[in-house]
Amino acid sequence: METEIIAVTQQKGGVGKSTIAMHLGAAFHEKEKKVLLVDADGQNTLIRWSSTAKSGILFPVVNLAEAGAQIHREIKKFINDYDFIIVDCPPSITEKISGVVLLAASIAVVPISSSPADYWSSVGLVKLILQAQTMNKALQAVFLLNKTDKRRMLTRELKRPLEKLGFPLLKTQIPTRECYKQAMALGKTVLQMSDRSAQLAGAEIRACANEIAALLK
Ligand SMILES: Nc1ncnc2c1ncn2[C@@H]1O[C@H](COP(=O)(O)OP(=O)(O)O)[C@@H](O)[C@H]1O
Ligand SMILES: [Mg+2]
Repeated sequence: METEIIAVTQQKGGVGKSTIAMHLGAAFHEKEKKVLLVDADGQNTLIRWSSTAKSGILFPVVNLAEAGAQIHREIKKFINDYDFIIVDCPPSITEKISGVVLLAASIAVVPISSSPADYWSSVGLVKLILQAQTMNKALQAVFLLNKTDKRRMLTRELKRPLEKLGFPLLKTQIPTRECYKQAMALGKTVLQMSDRSAQLAGAEIRACANEIAALLK
């Protein structure tokens, strides 16, 4: 298969970029795909997460946060060895990295929670993605609702304006679940945890990965 580069990107921090990136990595690894996780964020969440793992992470995690505007070249060096390269982007669209990764990516996955601030910061990101699409015709983009709470109206109210921004919203939503935080702290993913909440989370993550894989076909 051709290597798919997935950019997990959003202008804001705390929306779940790193959480989504590591879990998409785990879901594709479970499907026996060769996965590389790229930490492109100077906060190095994924590098820290992987160094916390007692028995290591199941797939490699590399730090390219210092590569700046050259990051697409660095990523392309790995292309022959992996099926999926998942890039955890920095929370800024003014940093060169965010735009440059989009030039190499097959799909941008944009996590968003149900807060208005997340919506507003998506508007700027949408512009950056549209700009990248003029040069990278193959680039797709999807929103992924994270930290949702079904009881809250806002989650439902956000759907329509999001769709107006022009990119589809994945059907699968990721609810707020404590197990995602535990996974981060333990150097694991929810796919390796067996309590009830982690099982539900695992099903959601697999569904997300399947939706993304279907778009890439
Ligand atoms: N669905 C979720 N449920 C519960 N906690 C979550 C969820 N998604 C992310 N988090 C937590 O929210 C915080 C920010 O997530 P993170 O992935 O680091 O965001 P970002 O990379 O966008 O800054 C972390 O503590 C993470 O564990
Ligand atoms: Mg992060």
